[in-house]
Amino acid sequence: MMNVKVLTLFPTFFDSFKETSIIKRALDKGSVHFEAINFRDYTLDKHNNVDDTICGGGAGMLLACQPIVDAIKANRTPDSKVVMLSPQGKKLDQKLVHELARNDDIILLCGHYEGFDERIRDYVDEEVSIGDFVLTGGEPAALVVSDAIIRLRDGVIRSDSHEDDSFENGLLEYPQYTRPVAFEGKMVPDVLMSGHHENIRKWRLKESLRKTYLRRPDLLETRKLNEEEHKFLQEIIEEEKQSR
Ligand SMILES: C[S@@+](CC[C@H](N)C(=O)[O-])C[C@H]1O[C@@H](n2cnc3c(N)ncnc32)[C@H](O)[C@@H]1O
Repeated sequence: MMNVKVLTLFPTFFDSFKETSIIKRALDKGSVHFEAINFRDYTLDKHNNVDDTICGGGAGMLLACQPIVDAIKANRTPDSKVVMLSPQGKKLDQKLVHELARNDDIILLCGHYEGFDERIRDYVDEEVSIGDFVLTGGEPAALVVSDAIIRLRDGVIRSDSHEDDSFENGLLEYPQYTRPVAFEGKMVPDVLMSGHHENIRKWRLKESLRKTYLRRPDLLETRKLNEEEHKFLQEIIEEEKQSR
């Protein structure tokens, strides 16, 4: 069982996430427990404040140590991985998603306003960013992380449906089609309707390489290619040259 706790100022932000599609099914089945917990439940301030002005001056407010650290301490177990969502963190990719998904107990901290008092970082195992841009709060980032890790857990979706996903083998996924076979003159490639498994496998591999070459050539810089992949890539480079 995976236990995901999101510590946030806005627990209701996660209501539709819990109630929708694959995530709802995983929660209903009990293979994942997901809970959004309010930092304000831990404040000792008589006005329920969780934030304060910034030492040294400057615009905005910061989340203060006491309520945030008390919320972490009250919710973590010796097995918890405490993750702070932050634009200053390690950039999320599918490799990091896999690493995070291996934890059975994960706590996601959502910042707000100008972010967290720096000393809170001492209570955190990992800092994760969903990209080089700044959100108003960590909630959309926590949603992204939660969704990406939950779908990798056993029994949430069929494992063969994420094995071919983009990034899983260092490539973008091949083009996919559903019925009808003809739509406004655009046809599903014949090979996919042939029932010939080996030809379909080869076509998918080659088109996966083509998409990656055309859209994300950076991925090919670090991806080791086997003999077959190398041959396909050479063909693709030639074909793309011809089509220009
Ligand atoms: C306005 S941001 C604070 C940004 C902070 N002042 C800075 O420049 O690093 C408020 C909160 O949104 C969340 N956040 C913003 N951008 C994010 C990103 N790219 N990835 C993950 N979390 C982000 C963090 O939890 C952050 O504490």
